Amino acid sequence: MKCLHNESLLKHNSFNIETTCADIYYPESICDLESLPSLDNTPFYILGEGSNTLFTDEKSPTIIKPNFKGLKVSDKGDCYCVHVGASENWHDLVSFCIKQNIFGLENLALIPGSVGAAPVQNIGAYGVDFSDYCYEVEWFNLKTRKVELLSKNECEFGYRDSIFKGALYNKGIIIGATLHFPKKWQANLAYSGLDSLPSDSIAADVMAKVIELRMSKLPDPRLLPNAGSFFKNPVVDGIKFKQLQSQYPNMPSYKQSEDEIKLAAGWLIDQAGLKGYRIGKVGIHDKQALVLVNYNSGSGQEIVSLAQLIQERVLTDFGVIIEPEVRTVTEKGEVKFSNLSIVQMQETS
Ligand code: EPU
Repeated sequence: MKCLHNESLLKHNSFNIETTCADIYYPESICDLESLPSLDNTPFYILGEGSNTLFTDEKSPTIIKPNFKGLKVSDKGDCYCVHVGASENWHDLVSFCIKQNIFGLENLALIPGSVGAAPVQNIGAYGVDFSDYCYEVEWFNLKTRKVELLSKNECEFGYRDSIFKGALYNKGIIIGATLHFPKKWQANLAYSGLDSLPSDSIAADVMAKVIELRMSKLPDPRLLPNAGSFFKNPVVDGIKFKQLQSQYPNMPSYKQSEDEIKLAAGWLIDQAGLKGYRIGKVGIHDKQALVLVNYNSGSGQEIVSLAQLIQERVLTDFGVIIEPEVRTVTEKGEVKFSNLSIVQMQETS
């Protein structure tokens, strides 16, 4: 298996942060996975295309960068079944499907990253989530050294969440996914921005509109390094929601259940007066306050400080805690922001 040492990860993360990795493994077959050294006492991080990762230290933990390619389509009668390797690019998969007249992923066009990252945080945009089309995920168990197939239910998908962030965190490696697309298709145009399209729009038109919307708000990481939405949209209870709504009647909100209302983190940050804010070499994008950007070789620590400042301001102004969607990785492994400070990730055994 290919394994490199003392590699710079500058080109492996969309924030363009310089960090050095002592050991980076590139497994591309089950055989390679079986021959990985034991990682029981070694901090490690599984890296896709690095579009949702923030490195904060001069050194990174051991990196596993799976290289599982391939795409296979089969016709199941009332649906198309697409099996795709974890290391294929997500947007390439979306484009391929639309060209083959396989519809469903058009709302998820232009999301950066690899297919293998999609189930981990259940990527979503414009009213569609990865879980809507997921049939099963192919996963290599690092303990048993066997491949397991996890059904959609077993993946425990939630908003930007799955079992791969919970009970199976760092216990294995996603190597592929199978998606099912019913042949009976209808454009999903409910999300604001797409509702201007005619109801009989074809998937390619929806995809073009999604691309246009994303390009108008989200900076291209190749030109302005960033990792998309830095924070998740927070969910508050009915009491908190009513209190905020009486103060801010125009506040965007999305009802999840009777007592769970999702708020727009971008709106909260914007209202806190932080949109376009810049400090040192990093800042908050001026067209979408959810996106933190690295203007000029800023460090991961600078982004962390900015993120903490944003959390504090939103908490002070609105009494709402916002949590990062981006994954923060130190030399000792992934950490999470909790109570406005960084703590080591607790593995759920
Ligand atoms: N808003 C503001 N100011 C801002 C940003 C947003 O007032 O600076 C308001 C908007 O006007 C809108 C609301 O907040 O009323 C929500 O904004 P938007 O529709 O742009 O979506 P979002 O909640 O900011 C989410 C996803 C995006 C996805 C879009 C479109 C999360 C954390 N982010 O953003 O995903 O593209 O919806 O579906 O759920 C990503 O995960 O990297 C990402 C870009």
